[in-house]
Amino acid sequence: MTDRSAPPLFHTVICDLLGIRYPILQGAMQGGGGVELVAAVSEAGGLGVLPTFGGTDAKLRADIAAVRSRTGKRFGVNIMPMGAGIAERCAATCIELGVPIVTTGRADPGEKLVHRLKAAGIVVVSVIPTVDHARRMEAEGVDAVVASGTEAGGHVGTVATLPLVPLVVDAVKIPVLAAGGIGDARGFLAAFALGAVGVQMGTRFMATEESDLNAWGRAQLLAMRETDTIVTRAMTGATVRCIRTAEIVAYEAALARGADAAELTELKRLVRGSRYDGDKSGRRQSAAGQVAGMIHEVVPVRVLIEEMVAEAARLAARMGGIARGE
Ligand SMILES: Cc1cc2nc3c(=O)[nH]c(=O)nc-3n(C[C@H](O)[C@H](O)[C@H](O)COP(=O)(O)O)c2cc1C
Repeated sequence: MTDRSAPPLFHTVICDLLGIRYPILQGAMQGGGGVELVAAVSEAGGLGVLPTFGGTDAKLRADIAAVRSRTGKRFGVNIMPMGAGIAERCAATCIELGVPIVTTGRADPGEKLVHRLKAAGIVVVSVIPTVDHARRMEAEGVDAVVASGTEAGGHVGTVATLPLVPLVVDAVKIPVLAAGGIGDARGFLAAFALGAVGVQMGTRFMATEESDLNAWGRAQLLAMRETDTIVTRAMTGATVRCIRTAEIVAYEAALARGADAAELTELKRLVRGSRYDGDKSGRRQSAAGQVAGMIHEVVPVRVLIEEMVAEAARLAARMGGIARGE
């Protein structure tokens, strides 16, 4: 356990900007990160972030109230600009309810929306997959960006975390966090070596006691190797990295052999069906990143965060020895 009287380990500008103890964001996860996870991450000193993708306004309001009933700490809400008017509706609710931090995922939500959030005093953090996208978000006035590599679970681009983070750090003046493939102290520390001031993790947080990932997904996460994810458009129409399942493999194979639209639609329905409806085994398709291959146990969020930070501090001390040739 960390000595709470000592200054927090790895305190960076992002901790001050977001009002958190550790520079660790829990990436919003539709289907993997409900109110219990969000509250637990914020309580443990990171930033929990609520997903809104695919949800109603009533659900967002209920989720915000539920998080507030569990923690007095700051948390964020994620806005995904997918679908007409949805981002605007989520933004309006965040403003009305005084949500302090909004993250944006997948695409540029537009300058107008960023200005509206900023004018309401909300800190805006955008997840970006390329240098150009990072520059655009900086120009629109966001406070920080999360450079998310193709290793990540959820919507992904094509550039890996290792080159993406330093490229973005060199391209913008606002703080940069790293995401994609971070699951333990080694990845956490590597993010700082790349110039990031913090990390965003998704997949690792799904394998915690507080996440709402279904039993099938949990079992998958613990059994998966690093090769057991697949990037597909079958889930949302955009490229999403998820757990490799027979339904997605069948869809991708049909796509590769030039199957007609009717067949692809049916295969997509099976992929999405396995995601949304579940079956008797509790099976529900889920996004997941390559870091799933490193996950071997389900732990409480506080243990995950405190042990990762403490181990990273020990590692950092050892790195000093390596640099000195010891
Ligand atoms: C199951 C799942 C659902 C996700 N849903 C969202 C989402 O709704 N909005 C978003 O911006 N990012 C979403 N993401 C991306 C995460 O917020 C985070 O950026 C990503 O998981 C980081 O990479 P990692 O999985 O390697 O840790 C999702 C990721 C996962 C694994």
